[in-house]
Amino acid sequence: MAQAKSGSDRMEKIVSLCKRRGFVFQSSEIYGGLNGCWDYGPLGTELKRNLKDFWWRRMVRERDDVVGMDGSILMNRQVWVASGHENTFTDPMVDCRNCKSRLRADQLPEKNGRKQCPVCGSFDLTEPRAFNLMFKTYVGATEDESAITYLRPETAQAIFVQFRNILEVSRKKLPFGIAQIGKAFRNEINPRNFTFRSREFEQMELEYFCRPENGLELLEYWLQERLRFYRDIGLSSESLHVHKIPPEECAHYSKGTYDIEFEFPFGIQELEGVAYRTDYDLNQHQKASGKPLDYFDEESKQHFIPHVVEPSAGVDRTALALISAAYDEEVVTDEKGKSETRTVLRFHPRMAPIKCGVFPLLKNNELLVRQAREIVDQLRGEMMVFHDETGAIGRRYRRQDEAGTPFGVTVDFDTIGENGPALRDTVTVRHRDSMEQERIAIKELTAFLGERIR
Ligand code: GAP
Repeated sequence: MAQAKSGSDRMEKIVSLCKRRGFVFQSSEIYGGLNGCWDYGPLGTELKRNLKDFWWRRMVRERDDVVGMDGSILMNRQVWVASGHENTFTDPMVDCRNCKSRLRADQLPEKNGRKQCPVCGSFDLTEPRAFNLMFKTYVGATEDESAITYLRPETAQAIFVQFRNILEVSRKKLPFGIAQIGKAFRNEINPRNFTFRSREFEQMELEYFCRPENGLELLEYWLQERLRFYRDIGLSSESLHVHKIPPEECAHYSKGTYDIEFEFPFGIQELEGVAYRTDYDLNQHQKASGKPLDYFDEESKQHFIPHVVEPSAGVDRTALALISAAYDEEVVTDEKGKSETRTVLRFHPRMAPIKCGVFPLLKNNELLVRQAREIVDQLRGEMMVFHDETGAIGRRYRRQDEAGTPFGVTVDFDTIGENGPALRDTVTVRHRDSMEQERIAIKELTAFLGERIR
């Protein structure tokens, strides 16, 4: 296996593959891009969709204690005042007086105990000052103070402010959760590492409400559940790390936080935070809005504010982790002894953007092409399929290897009965990782592939 030499070398190859194959493009590329913003192409969009669908399936549909919501991105400014974001959602920023770069004060390299500008090497830096990460905007036609609000920097707050409504309509009893997937925006001082730290990104968040006495136990439960999720989408246990945040570094209201981290090519970095946020958020919103956000316990006949455990994951970070983990290069030798490097994305089949490539052996044979088209029609309702009839079959396999397609179906002369009736109406199924092939009856294909991609 020809492993990429170093993390940065590997990362460069991943970024290049993402662009070449249509996973991720720079946003507004033809105008020079927009720093910290990315567009997902056809394969990247399917990958993200599979990830979000599987999260939703695991976190909402397979449970009877979680319901979903889909909140607006723009909310009343008072939400952000009450949550503390308007005053405290900041990063420390410095300016380099020499090259005018804006830098995150807590990420500066040091030389001989002095902070240094990573762009020009100067030590002439301003004092750190707090920079609010929320994007400010105006609602309506007047751009004055009363019209100010922000693009949401997390999806969680919509869940807290709708807690009462959702409790009433869902008629859930504690413990229960509200899940949401959606865009969030942060004006990061230093977006970096490709999509890892972006200014516009998507979150998958669950707020799991509980009795105060169950908070700590549920924190451990959700940590394990979330690790199981990552393993089930194809990230190995060895590549995942749990970092328990020391109490002095936790938010003042948190009684415990774990970061789930992944070994990216650029280092071990956070994928998800699992935090026990106590009753802080509901309390804040109850105080600020004057509206009750408590829970009535029918057994004890008492009212109280529920506590909450929050597993909060990033879609883009997880998609990048999936691509990083899947990326592989291997030297393969054909029957004539010719060697070449095969680039392959070894996605778990349930995450793979395209599940199956369908290939008529020859483009100019009408029977082969028609049969292949019929197979595409048969599979299309169940999964993402791709018909490819151009180029040598080996090249078509390689193209799908690079896209991470786990199965390739080839329609050949046996399929159409030209070599006798024995293999008529069967196709070869090629497995991406082993490159082994097996013969399957066309009528069994949907079930054969279906059980392997779910
Ligand atoms: N509601 C809690 C919350 O938002 P967070 O740790 O700030 O917590 C949760 O964010 C997750 O959102 C992170 O673990 C990460 O996966 C993702 N995320 C945060 N900032 C991001 C950024 N600038 N770019 C991409 N993903 C980001």
